[in-house]
Amino acid sequence: MNDNEVAVLDYGSQYTQLIVRRVRELGFLAHLYAPTQLAGLKNPGAIILSGGPRSTSEVDAPDVDFEALMAFGVPVLGVCYGMQLLNIKHGGTVRPGVTREYGPAKLIVSEAGTLFAGISHESQIWMSHSDTVSALPEGVSVIATNEDAVPVALQFGERCWGIQFHPEVTHSHEGAQILKNFLTRSGAKLAPFDIQAFKAEMLNQIRADVGDREVVCGVSGGVDSTVLAVLLHRAGVKLRCIYIDTGLMRKGETAEVIKQFIEVGVPIEVVDASAAFLGRLAGVSDPEEKRKIIGGEFIEQFWGVADNVELLAQGTLYPDVIESASSGSAASKIKTHHNRVDRILELKKEGKVLEPLAELFKDEVRALGASLGIPHEALWRHPFPGPGLAVRVPGALTPEKLEIAREADAIFIAELRRSGWYEKVWQAYAALLPVKTVGVKGDERSYEQAISLRAVVSEDAMTADWVELPYEVLRAASNKILNSVKGINRVLYDISTKPPASIEWE
Ligand code: XMP
Repeated sequence: MNDNEVAVLDYGSQYTQLIVRRVRELGFLAHLYAPTQLAGLKNPGAIILSGGPRSTSEVDAPDVDFEALMAFGVPVLGVCYGMQLLNIKHGGTVRPGVTREYGPAKLIVSEAGTLFAGISHESQIWMSHSDTVSALPEGVSVIATNEDAVPVALQFGERCWGIQFHPEVTHSHEGAQILKNFLTRSGAKLAPFDIQAFKAEMLNQIRADVGDREVVCGVSGGVDSTVLAVLLHRAGVKLRCIYIDTGLMRKGETAEVIKQFIEVGVPIEVVDASAAFLGRLAGVSDPEEKRKIIGGEFIEQFWGVADNVELLAQGTLYPDVIESASSGSAASKIKTHHNRVDRILELKKEGKVLEPLAELFKDEVRALGASLGIPHEALWRHPFPGPGLAVRVPGALTPEKLEIAREADAIFIAELRRSGWYEKVWQAYAALLPVKTVGVKGDERSYEQAISLRAVVSEDAMTADWVELPYEVLRAASNKILNSVKGINRVLYDISTKPPASIEWE
C-alpha cells in the first residue's frame, strides 16, 4: 500500500477493475483490496467500495468494517453494493429486489454539491443491481434519483457518498466526471500516478531485485513481452531474450519481430522450431489436442534453451494478478499461454520469477513502452494467441493450409491498415474454414475453400463485439483475397459476439 493512494475495496462486481483503471486515468494512484484488508490499510487517501453480485440481505453477504472505514477520516464512495452497505451501516434499510435491474437509466440530480458539480441535470447512467434502498438513515440526503423518483445517490455525511450506478463504465455518460469530482473536490489528499515517475521506480526496483543474476525473458513480439524486454534491457541487467518460431506465425512475422528488436536495440535469440511443431501436429484435428501438443512442444523448446535459469521474467499484468487473487488460484496468476505453468510455479516457489509489469493495465504498459522509445506499431499490434494460426485453421494442419491462411490474413490486415481501421479494432484475422465450397472460375466450376474474416472490439478479451467495418473495406479485402489467394473461392465475415462465440475459431 502506498501513502495517499485510492483504495478500492472489491465486492466482486465485474467492473471493479475498471474503477482502478479510471482513477489512474484521472492521474491518481489506486489499487484493489479485498474488503477484509481494510483495517490493515496504511494511510489511504480515499476509499471506494465497489459493486458486487450479492445482496446485502444474504446471511453471509460480504461486509465492511465500518468502524475502521470511518476511523481513516478520508472521503468514501460506495458504488451499488457499496452504497447499500453504507446505507445499512448508517442505520438505513435495504429492500432485496426480486429481479436484477440491468442497463441504462436516468440520473436526475437534485443536489449538485461535491459529487455532481458540473454534471448535467439529467444524464444516462448504467445500473446493475437488485437491492434498493427502502428506508434512509437519519440525516442522509438524497442527491439524485432516477426517473421513477427512486434514490440513486446519497450523501451520508460530509465526506461519504453512495451511488447506485456504475460511474466507471462509459455507458454512464458523465461517470468519469463524477469520479473526478469525488477525487478532486472532496478534500482527499491523493498520490499522483504518472508513468514517468513509475518507470524510474520500476527500473530501480528491477536492479535491486535482479542484482547480478541473469534474467531469461520469452519474447513473442507482442506488446507485453516487448515492453518487458526493453525495460529489463534499460535497467542494465544481464538478459537473455528468447523467441521461438513455432511455424504457426503470421506472414513475415518472425522477420518483423527480429527487425523490431534490432530497432529497440535488444538482442534476441531466435529458435526456429517450426519443423518440430508442424511434425507433431501433422494429422491432429482435435482442438484441445492441438493446443496440448503446441503447449508441450513450447515447453520443450523454451526450456531446452533456457535451462538453469537464475530468474525468469514474465509479462504478467495487473488484471492477471487481480484475477488470480479473486479466483484464489496461484496457477491462474501465470499466463498459461504456453502451458509452462508447472515449471513456472516451481520457479515461483524458489523466488525466481520476476513480474515487473504486474502493477500495470494494458494501456499503461503501452504508455510505458512509448516512454521507453518503442515504436508505435509495436505497441499497437493486435494480440496474437500463443498457438498462433493453429487456432485459425480448424482441423488438421498442413503447410499448404497455413500458407493460405497467412496470405488471406495479410491481405485483410493490410486493408485494415490502409483504411485506418487497424487501430480501431482490438483484434482481426482471417480463418481458413475446413469446408469445401462450389464456385465458378472462368467457365469451370471450382471446388475450393472458404475464408472467414473476423474483426472484434473488446476491453479485455472476456467479451467482444464484432466490428461494423465499412462495406468498402470488406469488399476490397474480399476482392483481393478471391483474386490472389489460390484455393479460395468464398469469403465470409463473422458477425458473432463473444459470448457465445469465442474470439478465435478454436
Ligand atoms: P478466445 O478465443 O478465448 O480468445 O475468445 C480470447 C483472447 O485470448 C487470445 N487467445 C490466446 N492467447 N494463448 C494465448 O496467448 C492461447 O492459447 C489463446 N487462446 C486465445 C485470443 O487471441 C484473444 O485475444
